[in-house]
Amino acid sequence: MSDAPRSTLRPLVILISGTGSNMQAIVRAAQAQRWRERYGAFVAAIISNRPDAKGLAWAAGEGLPTAVLDHKAYPSREAFDAALAQAIARFDPDATARVVLAGFMRILTPAFVERFAGRLVNIHPSLLPAFPGLHTHQRAIEAGCRFAGATVHLVTAELDQGPILEQAVVPILPGDTPETLAARVLTQEHLIYPRAIERWLRETGG
Ligand code: GAR
Repeated sequence: MSDAPRSTLRPLVILISGTGSNMQAIVRAAQAQRWRERYGAFVAAIISNRPDAKGLAWAAGEGLPTAVLDHKAYPSREAFDAALAQAIARFDPDATARVVLAGFMRILTPAFVERFAGRLVNIHPSLLPAFPGLHTHQRAIEAGCRFAGATVHLVTAELDQGPILEQAVVPILPGDTPETLAARVLTQEHLIYPRAIERWLRETGG
């Protein structure tokens, strides 16, 4: 695949709920690795379902468009997801955006997943298929695992079960708490998530 400029731009819309450190790693990688020139890919917007998400301020400081959709303001999961799809569409005129879940702590409806099928990617803080869902680090420690990690995967209707794009492994050390383990895993997340997205862009036509 050549590095020739692309005529079609590929927006990346990043969804967050909190700190957004993975989002920051992706924004930095996109800049440093010239994703726009190489793949036509650019970070078009950061959307949070929590008004107090710390990552929003960082993104705004970078000059990136931000939007908030407070899920508590919607009567149902379906209504929230419909509004979320509309919010994404505002940054995605050609319906080609890749939607990047970066610590987005909402379960998405099948209709939403279907709409973005093949364009929706997530990072999960475990070695999937082990420990889907919440409290992954605590569960890995309690299970006596010697290793933990993180997984980048395409999103399908079943929670945390889509095709795996990338994984990283870290040891679980004596005395680890969920917090110390989470910090060790997060360091690896910041490496594998941008790497997985870059390869996904390269191998799927930008
Ligand atoms: C990350 O560890 C990510 O893997 C996890 O939330 C954290 C977000 O950190 N995601 C999930 O648990 C999704 N189910 P960040 O906001 O600093 O990127």
